[in-house]
Amino acid sequence: MKHPRAPIVVIGGGVAGLATALAAAPSPVRLLCRAIDGTGSASALAQGGIAAALDPDDSPLAHTEDTLVAGAHHNNVAMVRWLCAQAPEAIAWLQAQGVVFDRDAGGALKLGREGGHRVARIVHAGGDASGAVLLRALLAKAQCAAHIQWRGGLDADALLLRDGVVCGVRAIDGQGRQHVIEASAVVLATGGIGALFACTSNPPGADGSGLALGMAAGARVRDLEFVQFHPTALDVSGAHCLPLITEALRGAGARLRDAGGRLLMEGLHPLGDLAPRDVVARRVWQARRDDGRVWLDASAMEGEWESAFPTVLAACLKHGIDPRHQPIPVTPAAHFHMGGLAVDGDGRTSVPGLYAAGEVACNGVHGANRLASNSLLEGILCGRRLGAVLAATPAAAGRGEHRWAERGSVLAADDLSRLRDLLWQTAGPVRRTESLRHYLLQLMAWPAQGWQARLAQSLLDAALQRHESLGAHYIAAPEMDV
Ligand code: SIN
Repeated sequence: MKHPRAPIVVIGGGVAGLATALAAAPSPVRLLCRAIDGTGSASALAQGGIAAALDPDDSPLAHTEDTLVAGAHHNNVAMVRWLCAQAPEAIAWLQAQGVVFDRDAGGALKLGREGGHRVARIVHAGGDASGAVLLRALLAKAQCAAHIQWRGGLDADALLLRDGVVCGVRAIDGQGRQHVIEASAVVLATGGIGALFACTSNPPGADGSGLALGMAAGARVRDLEFVQFHPTALDVSGAHCLPLITEALRGAGARLRDAGGRLLMEGLHPLGDLAPRDVVARRVWQARRDDGRVWLDASAMEGEWESAFPTVLAACLKHGIDPRHQPIPVTPAAHFHMGGLAVDGDGRTSVPGLYAAGEVACNGVHGANRLASNSLLEGILCGRRLGAVLAATPAAAGRGEHRWAERGSVLAADDLSRLRDLLWQTAGPVRRTESLRHYLLQLMAWPAQGWQARLAQSLLDAALQRHESLGAHYIAAPEMDV
C-alpha cells in the first residue's frame, strides 16, 4: 500500500511562513502558529514597505550597491544580486495576491525613501501599515488554499529526528497537551530575537524560539552577533515591546533633536537623519545617555498623517502624544537579527529535513546590517523559493533510531527580565569587550539554564569572537566615552 506523504510542517505565520506554505502547493502543508488567531508575527508590525527598483532612474544594480554598503560588504553578494533583481517581480506577485500598494495622484506607485537608500524605492501599503496589509492578503490566500491546514495556539518545542533526518515536530497547546506531527520536512519561519532585549520593536513572540530549536537539533548558525537596533521606537518608559516610529517619517522630512532642541545628526554623516541605521541608533543611544531624551520633530514633515502614517499616529495618541503638534520621544530598540540558522540560497540548514526562512535564517543577504525595507522582501522571495524547492523534493526517508531534539526549559519570568536587561546593556548598540566577557561568564554561572539563557550565551560568545566593529556590531574602544 502506498503511504500518503506526511505534510511539510511550517512553523510561523509571518510573511516568510505564509509565502513558503503557498508556494509548496500542491504538497500538503501544516502551518503552525503560536498565537491562536495567527497574529503576533513581527511581519504584522512592519511599517516600512518593500524596496524594489521600480523607478526608471533606479536599477537592481543600485539597489544591490545600497544593500552591500548598508551590510558593510559582509553580505553574500550572489544572494543580494538575486534579491534585488527579483524585487520588482515580488511586488507584481503581491499585487496578484490582492495587495494594494499606495499610489500617487497620477496613479503611479508611490515610492518612498528610507535610511541607506540613495533614491526613493520603497513601496508601501496602507501608508505605514505595509506588513499588516501584506499579512492579511497572504493569510486570506492561505486560508482558502486546499493544500494548507492551519493550526494556531501551538508552541513547537522539539524536533523529531530519524537517522539524523528531521521528520517531525512536537508542539504544546494552551492546555499543556503535547501534539506530535510527522513531517516530510520542517520549515522554521519563527522570526527573530528582538524580544530577548529590554527594548524592542518586535512582538513578544520574537524571542528566538525557532533559532533555539534549530540549534538543539545541531543546525549550524552564523553571524549571531549582528543585531540591528532601530533608532526610533516610541520611548515609553517601563515598556518592553515598543511601538516603532518608522524611518519613513525621516524620509518625509522629520528630524531628530536632542534635549536642547539641537539637530542630532547635523554634521555627523552625509546622509544626515537618513544615515544607516546603526549610525543613527548609536547617536540616539549616546544622546539619551548624555542629555536624557531624544525627540523626533515631525513639524516639517510632508504628507498627511492620517493616510501616510496612521499606525504611528495611533500609537502616539494612545500614549498621550499628538505627533501633529508635539515632538515624539524616541529610543533605539532591538529590531532585526541579521544572523541566524545558516542556510543555503534555497533555505536548507545543515541538518537534513530542516529548513528555515525569514529572520530566523541567515543566508548572508543582509550582511552585517540590513538595509531598510529589505526584510519583507527577503521573507517573500526566500519563502517562495523554499516552498517551490520543497514541492519538488521527495521526502527524505529516515527509518532507524529516532531521537528528540528538545528546545529545553523556559526561564522563569524574573530571570528572563534580568536576561533582557543584561543583553540590552551588554550587546546593545554599543558594546565593550570587557563587559561582553564579564557578562558571558556571569550568564554561564546562572543556576537556571533556560533556553533563552543558552541563546544569549551564544550571542555574547559570537560578539566576543568578532574583535572589530562591523555594521551593527559596534565595539567601543576601552578609553572611548560612548
Ligand atoms: C521602518 O519602518 O523604519 C522599518 C523598516 C525596516 O525595518 O526595514
